[in-house]
Amino acid sequence: MKLRLTDEEKEMLEGKHGRATKKAMDLIVNLGEIYGAERLIPISSVQIAGVSYHNLGEAGLEYLADMAVDGKVRVITTLNPAGMDLEEWKKHGIDEDFAENQQRVVDAFARMGVITTCTCTPYLIGNLPHFGEHIAWAESSAVCFANSVIGALTNREGGPSALAAALTGRTAEYGFHLQENRNAQIKYKVDAKLHSTEDFGLLGYVIGERTRKSIPYITGIPHATTEELKSFCASVATYGGVAVFHMEQITPNRTTVPEETEIVTREDIDTAREALDDENAGIDFISIGCPHASINEIAKIAEMLEGKEISADKTVWITTARPTKDLAKKMGYYDVIEKSGAFLVSDACCAVAPLKGRFKGLMTDSAKACFYARGKNNFKTEIRTIEECIREATS
Ligand code: F3S
Repeated sequence: MKLRLTDEEKEMLEGKHGRATKKAMDLIVNLGEIYGAERLIPISSVQIAGVSYHNLGEAGLEYLADMAVDGKVRVITTLNPAGMDLEEWKKHGIDEDFAENQQRVVDAFARMGVITTCTCTPYLIGNLPHFGEHIAWAESSAVCFANSVIGALTNREGGPSALAAALTGRTAEYGFHLQENRNAQIKYKVDAKLHSTEDFGLLGYVIGERTRKSIPYITGIPHATTEELKSFCASVATYGGVAVFHMEQITPNRTTVPEETEIVTREDIDTAREALDDENAGIDFISIGCPHASINEIAKIAEMLEGKEISADKTVWITTARPTKDLAKKMGYYDVIEKSGAFLVSDACCAVAPLKGRFKGLMTDSAKACFYARGKNNFKTEIRTIEECIREATS
């Protein structure tokens, strides 16, 4: 066997640290052997995806309950969105059976010591690695953000391998944990002014569709906010499977730079918008917060909704992390949003909540949300700026 283990890792494999740790180490070692790793490395942070009961089902829940008998996480570990707001699910129309099962999933994670703030933006609420840190994250948009914007190092883990990394504090050293696999492979010059999270999501769509799992080097963007980068990450990961990118003068990683350059024009961005806009979408659902909204976005949305009312034929979800929602309550944003008739939904998102059949057409600022709305829920979609979404909601 090429993979060398430390004494402590061998003990975990032999079951001396408990049954769940042994199962977890079996999985990490298997992955290491498949990918030709020479050693395991300590990781300092984990983000687990696959939390919604809607996706896990009874088999997934049984696996978690079994691991929770004696499993305990060794590093900070947070969860991706669940299928509902864990406290206010009733008023969002989630049925009781689903809520009960979703709570059992979250309880199983809690027994293992996982922090049960269910969000795809863990970096906004305290699970924030630093540059050069090895981590094991599973949510594709967060993986892309961590690797590219923060400069941490992670592969795109699956739910079970992320949990295994949390229970052992280790991952196998292969893929994006190795510097030589993180160099740019294709260069783009963006010849268009980008103005919003919607624009950055559409850029992610264009580059993702062209890049397909390789590593882009992007020039021509003088400035990008955290919110715009999280939108880009979600989109480029969804449409191109991209886990690392480099953005000149914005992202911190060193890389070699490919010579040949492809141009992305305003026309390309507009064509992407057209591709995500369905005719006669019949918008009855508006969702902002994919990836989960920051407090800055919520403040702006509250300002836009002040004194307005959501139309009777529309439902509005602003999705975010629970600590961000708590902060929004303190700041008075929650009251403004809910008074308008919109919902500030934490712990969940429009892609993993059981929403199929409830709506016909989704308007959102997120290219990723369009992908799941169409693929999972059969909704028609329209992509617009946040301002346009709020105008539509209150018109
Ligand atoms: Fe997050 Fe759900 Fe979008 S997990 S990135 S809000 S699809």
